Amino acid sequence: MSNTINTEHFWMPFTANRQFKARPRMLVAASGMHYTADDGRKILDGTSGLWCVNAGHNHPKIVAAIQQQAATMDYAPAFQMGHPKVFEAASALVAIAPEGLNRVFFCNDGSEAVDSALKIALAYHRMRGDGLRTRLIGRERGYHGVGFGGIAVGGIAGNRKHFGPTLAGVDHLRHPLDIAKNAFSRGLPEHGAELADELEQRLLTLHDPATVAALIVEPVQGSTGVILPPKGYLQKLRAICDKYGILLIFDEVITGFGRVGAPFAADYFGITPDMLVCAKGLTNAAVPMGAVIVRQDIHDTFMDAAPENAIEFFHGYTYTGHPLASAAMLATMDVYRSEQLFERAAAIAPCFEQAAHSLQGLPYVKDVRNLGLVCGIELESVPGKSSARAFDVFLKCFWEKGVLIRTTGDIIALSPPLVIDKAQIDQLFGAIADILKAQKAVPETEAAFA
Ligand SMILES: Cc1ncc(COP(=O)(O)O)c(C=O)c1O
Repeated sequence: MSNTINTEHFWMPFTANRQFKARPRMLVAASGMHYTADDGRKILDGTSGLWCVNAGHNHPKIVAAIQQQAATMDYAPAFQMGHPKVFEAASALVAIAPEGLNRVFFCNDGSEAVDSALKIALAYHRMRGDGLRTRLIGRERGYHGVGFGGIAVGGIAGNRKHFGPTLAGVDHLRHPLDIAKNAFSRGLPEHGAELADELEQRLLTLHDPATVAALIVEPVQGSTGVILPPKGYLQKLRAICDKYGILLIFDEVITGFGRVGAPFAADYFGITPDMLVCAKGLTNAAVPMGAVIVRQDIHDTFMDAAPENAIEFFHGYTYTGHPLASAAMLATMDVYRSEQLFERAAAIAPCFEQAAHSLQGLPYVKDVRNLGLVCGIELESVPGKSSARAFDVFLKCFWEKGVLIRTTGDIIALSPPLVIDKAQIDQLFGAIADILKAQKAVPETEAAFA
């Protein structure tokens, strides 16, 4: 069927367009744990789409909520106007947010949520008369979406190098991945908490701490291959931020909504950030939506600083709190709660961990790391051909095994819907194991993306 579709005009994002279009991988339907490919095959979804369909595909309650809202009111502006569902949505999010985070700014995706959070941080300091705080700190290998703010604090070279200097005054902490010390750790790695000290000892020594507005981190770095915080590491970051009046922003676009077996990673780690960025699982990805959940006093600073009847924050989107997204989000929260999906993720996580670590010892497996229902499997690269090996596994999983995985460089990242069961976990890791056992030193598909 895909060879009847003209693929010429759609410029695909983050895709090897020429390689894809030579043999398109088309998905045409979805339900629960599976996609259907255009050749009719069922494809087990090992990645929740793009880390986002946490409740499984086409959940009937979410589908019905969107259908009903589309037939009732398609759109309402959020500038100087409102509609009930967006207010209900904010309250529903606050109900599961970490204690103390109770004001919600909505937008349309993770990138916008990150840029919104950075703007809130900068404006907050300025509004309380501390306008010198204009620096932002991110981390190497951090992914915070593709807006100019997000790529500035992000730490992925390829996402930055073509786009000029982006924001001024940004610096980065080192990432905490240390395979030499922590390979094959189950859950949080033992070694590396001291890497957090670099914030105080290097960055805040180099830059006057009184000039730093915020530190933004993913509690678990997802997109660059599942980098887990060593035990005690995030606690140290929290303490240093507190010491110097720096806002701590958790980017929970991936870790939110049950991925680590708790509502948010903040809950799992017992650390409350000053702002929490989320998207993806917020609506089960059925309609795009992102959000920043903010400490009340940060919000109130804006209210207090602006003259009466004036707009307090000059920021927003045409589709902020879109009625379809709000309806999808409310239904999604209901599904998470009524089906106890966060608890379910926590309950099945040990089985997922066991299956992930069964890959240890297979050819080319350099590291396996996991937390909740997320895991990274790092493979030895083909010399001079970074990403060729993992991409070969990805292609074979899709074409030969009917399993969707995701790769970044030579790391396979798995993040299945929270409704995955034991047999599906076995199928997912069994497929990868079979392919790895038959791996050649230089995979044959490598020529396609050399
Ligand atoms: C941690 C994190 N932040 C931000 C984003 C950007 O989200 P979006 O693609 O919805 O803009 C992502 C996307 O994967 C992400 O993983």
